[in-house]
Amino acid sequence: MKVDVILGLQWGDEGKGKIVDVFTPHYDIIARFQGGPNAGHTIEFDGKKFVLHTIPSGIFHRSTLNLIGNGVIIDPFIFIREIDKLAEAGIHAEENLLISNRAHLILPTHRMLDAVSESLKGQAKIGSTLKGIGPTYTDKFARNGLRVGNLNEKDFMERYRALKEIHLHTLGSYSADLDSFLLDGLSFETYEEKWFEAIGQMKGFRMVEGEQFLNKSLDEAKSVMAEGAQGTLLDVDFGSYPFVTSSNTIAAGVCSGLGISPHRIGRIYGIFKAYCTRVGSGPFPTELMDETGTILRRNGNEFGSTTGRPRRCGWLDLPALKYAIMLNGVDTLVMMKADVLNTFEKIKVCSQYKKGGQVRDEFPFELSEDTLEPVYKELSGWNLPLNNIESFDALPDPLSEYIRFIEKETGIPVDMVSIGPDRVQTLKR
Ligand code: GDP
Ligand code: IMO
Ligand code: MG
Repeated sequence: MKVDVILGLQWGDEGKGKIVDVFTPHYDIIARFQGGPNAGHTIEFDGKKFVLHTIPSGIFHRSTLNLIGNGVIIDPFIFIREIDKLAEAGIHAEENLLISNRAHLILPTHRMLDAVSESLKGQAKIGSTLKGIGPTYTDKFARNGLRVGNLNEKDFMERYRALKEIHLHTLGSYSADLDSFLLDGLSFETYEEKWFEAIGQMKGFRMVEGEQFLNKSLDEAKSVMAEGAQGTLLDVDFGSYPFVTSSNTIAAGVCSGLGISPHRIGRIYGIFKAYCTRVGSGPFPTELMDETGTILRRNGNEFGSTTGRPRRCGWLDLPALKYAIMLNGVDTLVMMKADVLNTFEKIKVCSQYKKGGQVRDEFPFELSEDTLEPVYKELSGWNLPLNNIESFDALPDPLSEYIRFIEKETGIPVDMVSIGPDRVQTLKR
């Protein structure tokens, strides 16, 4: 068997969590391959709403196993808080959750380093979620990191103290006022105490050699879906650098983030919103600073799942979408949040960019707003609610036309359309 992949084609928050949950009944294993608690994946069903940060979005189906892969970074405090929230709702994640022992740990001091790094950047700040993502991946690649598999080793405390010492030294050299730091509203000491309590609880979870487990499962004809976090335009190599996250969010990240060969990659599902959003700083060519942007934010309830920050909104950006499709080798497109466009008479789509008076189709090296101007095509809106639509064929004509336009431009079929946040509000072709 092969590993199918679901990943985001824009700046994150495309609706990956919802679609992974919709697909889960067809898979034996759901595996997250990168990112950490910067992610916020929302799943809604039966009038309930859950936001997951570290735990894969297949957790609501008890017969499916969920793996936190080696490419993911875990903050034990946030992880256990998530586990407790699920338990309150009667979902006992420990029953169908596995953690790779190669996944790296986010230390409390990683979060402090993140905060200091951002504040030193001033105007140029990335708008990080401040979950310690950059500093933790930095330590991973600098070969300083601590991994889940180290938790049960005798010298864990020693190694923790040594790494914390290095971090404190760095923080001291920035003249950071350590006493004023609050981590999720807690002082450093309290947070660290809770972090260690969480580590104690984490030891009760099944820790595995994720790569062995997955490859063996595939040999045994088990079906696997890899769940991405963030989106292609936040990829550390190909996104709008430096306003990106610190991992490879693209399909290539599945192999290193789970320990599987490229030969084992199956279908790649690319998730995109019918428009665009971005949270945090960085260029966004189709951003709407006007009333239209406000309507998109209001209709789409575009506020960050992790930080609550308002998301910046704009029209669909085809050159960026095509770039993402190319990087990932997308087989199937899934269009999300079509219902958010319900009230528009006209819908615009950026089909090309203009730079220095020249029209171009490619996503450029520097996506600067000052020099890049979107060239728009205008399409008819459907101006109808989609509440009662139960099949792809029953979509209003202008929406079908919108989909056909995207398919023609990208050359990839849109085989699924989402028309509301609930699991059941999903139409398959
Ligand atoms: P993810 O990070 O890619 O999993 O996406 P988020 O959960 O951060 O953000 C997507 C938001 O849109 C969530 O609040 C979802 O409940 C919501 N959502 C998903 N699909 C739809 C849809 O088709 N229509 C509407 N209106 N909301 C949706
Ligand atoms: P999901 O998985 C949207 C953004 C942050 C910031 C930049 C770097 O829910 O789609 P980081 O915390 O990684 O240092 O932040 O990336 N960002 C996201 N934006 N959705 C996400 O995840 C994101 N994860 C990080 O806002 O601009
Ligand atoms: Mg999200």
